[in-house]
Amino acid sequence: MIKMNKLAIAAGLSAMALSMAACSSDAASEDTSAAAGGGDAPAVSGDCNVGIAMPTRSLERWINDGEGLQARLEADGCTVDLQYADNETDQQISQIQNMVANGVNILVIASIDGTTLGPVLEQAAASDVKVIAYDRLINDTPNVDYYATFDNESVGTLQGEYIVDTLGLADGAGPFNFEPFAGSPDDNNARYFFKGAWDVLSPYVESGQLVVQSGKAPATVDDWQSIGILGWGSDDAQAEMDNRLSSFYTDQKVDVVLSPNDSLAVGIAQSLVNAGYTADDFPVLTGQDGDKAAVTNILAGNQSMTVWKDTRLLGERVEMMIKSIIAGEEPEVNDTTTYDNGVKVVPSYLITPEVVTADTVQSKLIDSGFLKPEDVGL
Ligand code: BGC
Repeated sequence: MIKMNKLAIAAGLSAMALSMAACSSDAASEDTSAAAGGGDAPAVSGDCNVGIAMPTRSLERWINDGEGLQARLEADGCTVDLQYADNETDQQISQIQNMVANGVNILVIASIDGTTLGPVLEQAAASDVKVIAYDRLINDTPNVDYYATFDNESVGTLQGEYIVDTLGLADGAGPFNFEPFAGSPDDNNARYFFKGAWDVLSPYVESGQLVVQSGKAPATVDDWQSIGILGWGSDDAQAEMDNRLSSFYTDQKVDVVLSPNDSLAVGIAQSLVNAGYTADDFPVLTGQDGDKAAVTNILAGNQSMTVWKDTRLLGERVEMMIKSIIAGEEPEVNDTTTYDNGVKVVPSYLITPEVVTADTVQSKLIDSGFLKPEDVGL
């Protein structure tokens, strides 16, 4: 089904204007932007109907991701259908089916469970829809064309290195009581986060400088799901931390907690606060995303750091990919080896994440406009 959206019409008009300008030789170069509407010119030249499938509205980052990308693409003249799926795989599948039925030509999908989309993406491929996996890889299907994400393993590496540096582990400090957490077992990213951190931290568990009193230390990276928090819920992370504290920390203190992201860190911090920890004796606690609640905790001393993924950069990257696809060009990628989805290595663009601590909240998160001062009580 071909839909004539305003972009296609504008592109058609601009192509007409271009060919007219080409007839008068000296007008050709100067007037292309004016022909296409000057500063408001559509940045994409072709039919651009995009379906964006996001996992859930319950986590701040996905709201920013979805709405930010929608705004960018609409400014380019694309038609956008943005859907959220309450973290329910079936709901996401039927949303994608509807998008395909409604004639999208590009799908951008942040999957809930990256292993369940094969059949619906077969339907998409039959309709020539290009598929961009957004932030999370889609597995076990040939029908995913590109992957745009942050360097997921490096998120974990940054968390692990932060712990090593802050505690002085490389200088032999310790022993410290350490509790590791991992992300949702159905999220393809979660293994990468854990691997990045565990490769850095496990030598110190083996040396006895990090002691996991609860015993919840996976024997190997491959066992990471045993400590995963399904659905990335703050409440579930809090309940798990409550259990560990009440079972193993009645007469000793926890010194450091590896949390893969901010939604877990916020729950873990709440558990620690309830157990009487204050900013003075708060464990080292990691995170990821730069969520408002977590950054507020960082400023209060109830979380140590977050690995910031500027989702605006990811949106910009996906917008660039879409422009290339519409123009019939190959999108730029910078990794063609890491992300094997079980059927193929998906050409990827990886963005570099960075550490934010209390000292850099202002310079990195506020000054860049990622967060407003009032979002974090400033
Ligand atoms: C994302 C993280 C996010 C987590 C929970 C992961 O796939 O990469 O940024 O914190 O999902 O939504």
